[in-house]
Formats: sequence, structure tokens, C-alpha cells
Amino acid sequence: MLKDGPATSRPPVTHWPALDLDGVDFDPVLAELMRAGPITRIKLPNGSGWAWLVCRYDDVRMVANDPRFSRKLVMEHDVTRLAPHFIPAPGAVSFEDPPDHTRLRRTIAAAFTTAGVERLRTRAQRMLDELVDAILRDGPPADLTERLLAPFPLAVVCELMGIPAEDRPEVHEWTTMILSSAQGAERSEQAKTRMCAYLGERLRAGGGATGDDDGEVGDVIGLLARAVETGEVTEEEAVGVALLVQIGGEAVTNNVGNMVYILLTRPELMDKLRATPDLRPSALNELLRYIPHRNSVGLSRIALEDVEVAGQVIRAGEAVYVSYLAANRDPEVFPEPDEILPDRTPNAHVSFGYGPHFCPGNMLARLESELLVNALLDRFPDPRFAVPVEELGWRPGALIRGPEALPVTWS
Ligand code: HEM
Repeated sequence: MLKDGPATSRPPVTHWPALDLDGVDFDPVLAELMRAGPITRIKLPNGSGWAWLVCRYDDVRMVANDPRFSRKLVMEHDVTRLAPHFIPAPGAVSFEDPPDHTRLRRTIAAAFTTAGVERLRTRAQRMLDELVDAILRDGPPADLTERLLAPFPLAVVCELMGIPAEDRPEVHEWTTMILSSAQGAERSEQAKTRMCAYLGERLRAGGGATGDDDGEVGDVIGLLARAVETGEVTEEEAVGVALLVQIGGEAVTNNVGNMVYILLTRPELMDKLRATPDLRPSALNELLRYIPHRNSVGLSRIALEDVEVAGQVIRAGEAVYVSYLAANRDPEVFPEPDEILPDRTPNAHVSFGYGPHFCPGNMLARLESELLVNALLDRFPDPRFAVPVEELGWRPGALIRGPEALPVTWS
């Protein structure tokens, strides 16, 4: 029945448990919620109460870009959520609203422009070549997660940040702890405290540990140190920004892990990309759309006033989640949404979010994915899994989905 004006009844609350899903399987609970309607209500394993969930592409973009929804207020609510741990560091850009959010993002913007990211390309390619050379030298089989997909994005983000090589293993360990809910809230909090203390020390030292060869754009810690000096941000805020960039940087390991999995389980796609390098940019973009990057949903927003979305009134003070994963499968925008179409155009997916919180690392993530996929396609002759696909392990209890290991062999 067609109705004028907002609905008077609210949809039931669906319990959405933490699921350990395999491969790139689409979350069956999310699929069910998408079928249930454009706006539903959910209860997640941690926090209290329920929250709205918005799934359609247009509605997701509207909510993500509408200043009537606040991220800052999320800190004051025990919103139902997937992660057990929560309390963010002050200055964590994810939990800020404009104008503070804009002020914080501005301090690091120079490092994330096309030029800022491209200046890393040569160094990144060199680091990648060294890793691949070593793997090929040692011969098959190799765990590509351990030898390539974990160390490479870590090295690149540490270059971008200005974190010296000797500190990288520890920084990586803290990141893994922060991003996993498997060991419980306390371990994650401890890791966050240690990482914040470390980043504070580096900021006070002024950054620049990796040496900036072009003298134009500093590393992220250097940029933040200068912003603290000029009073643009407090040291506490700078640490919060640095922490998020460092953590975000490692998202690539899992995302490209899923790309490798897709390519090795679809040899015809791999052959096509090997034979047609021109197809790679659009195919990579399509894989970014298709891959269910995270479990469940990310961070909520709180309505500052009553707002109508998809025929429901979200009342002031209520929490709402958008699902970028669901938006990426909206059939109105992406015909045959569950198919991987390497030449799909247009393909304005929202895998990097939308609105003011749009992922600042998107260009870097794209650069790293491009180099890693090129390495898989061009440097490994006839790559394939060294174990039956059913034996692959998928990260349990993780916020971001990906393979635990990718044992691969080649000819
Ligand atoms: C394939 C890899 C990646 C994916 C799929 C991804 C996706 C996302 C998404 C969906 C958001 C949240 C948007 C929102 O809150 O509405 C986000 C935020 C963020 N990402 Fe990424 N990201 C990736 C890689 C990176 C990298 C490489 C970095 C840093 C070097 C990074 C740093 C950040 C930061 C700092 C935020 C918070 C932005 C804010 O709230 O203003 N991400 N990312």
C-alpha cells in the first residue's frame, strides 16, 4: 500500500549476531535486512538498545552526508554495536563533526592528495619488488598474507606516517589487537593505550623519521607535529588522528587478501586481467565494490533532530547505521549487483564511505591494491592455492574480514 508521509509503526528489531563468515560470502543477515525494507532496526552483540539501519544507496549517501546526524554524539551513547571495545582517543576523526572534523582532517590532507600519494609510488614499488623477489627466491609454496599482504601495506603506511622500520612489528601487533574483538575489550584497550603513548613520543620528536626526499610534503607525523606547534590541534588530537591513519592503513591487507582469493578462485577472471591490463583499473574498482570489507556495520550516527529517512522518522537522539556494503549491492544503481563485472561503468561504489568521513586513505589503498594485484598477475607464473580452498581460514572475531593465510604455489 502506498502511503503519504512517514510511517506510523516501526519495523521489528532484528538481532544481528557476530558471524564468522567464509570467503567473500555476503552476510545472510544483512541480505535478509535488505529484503525486509530500506530502513529497519537492528540489535548488535555489544552496547545497549537498538539502532536504525539504512541500506539503499541514495539513503545511505543522504544519511552519511547530512549534518543533522552526528558522530560526536556517538561517544555519549552506549550504542548497540559489533565491537566490544569502543572508547575512542580524543581527536579520532571518526568521532568528530564539522567544524572540528574539518580542522583535524585539514592537518593531514597534504599527505593524501594525488601528488602526496603518488610520491610514494616509486618507493612502494621498490619495497614490493624486494618482498616478491624474496618469495620467488625461496620458491613455492608461500603464505602471501604473511610474506606480502601484511608487510607491504604496513611498510607503505609507516612510510606515509614516518614510523621507523625497527618499530614497525610492534605497531603492527598493536593494530591487530585494536582491530580484533577476539581477545576481548581489555586487550584492545591496552594496545590502544600503548600505541597512543608511542605516537605521542614520535610527535614530540617532530616526525620525519623516514626522511622526506622531495622536501614538499612531510610525513603524517611531521604534518601533525607542525599543526601542534602552530596551535591548530592539540597533541591529544594529533595522536588520535595518527592512530586512526595507522590503523586504517592496514585495512588493505584484508581487502587485497579478499581480492587474491577472488582471483585465485576465478581463473577465467585472472586470465582476462593478465591478458588485458587496460581492464585492470575498472576490475579493481569493481572488486572494491563487491568485497564485503567488514563484518556487520561500522560506526553509527546520532540524529540531532527528527529526520525522515525512507519513510520513517528517526527521532532526535536515536542512532542510525548506514551499510556501505548493502548500498554497493543496490540493484537500482548496480545492475546484477551480486556479479563481478570487471568492466562495470559507471561504478560509483561507496566502499570508502561517503560525505565528510569519506576515507582519506582511498588513494593510497587504490595504489597499494594496484601494485599488489599487478604483482600477483605479472610476477607469479600460474599462481594457485597450495591447499584445498575449503581449508583456508578466515579471521575470526574480526571487524574487517579477510583470509588468515593465503598459502599459494606457482609453477
Ligand atoms: C581497501 C582499503 C580501505 C577501505 C575499504 C576503507 C574504507 C573506509 C571506510 C568505509 C571509512 C568510513 C567512512 C565513514 O565513517 O562513514 C573509512 C574511514 C577512514 N579510513 Fe579507510 N579504508 C581503506 C584504507 C584506508 C587506508 C589505507 C587508510 C590510511 C592510510 C585509511 C584511513 C582511514 C581514516 C583515517 C578514516 C576515518 C575518516 C573520518 O572519519 O574522517 N583507510 N575507510
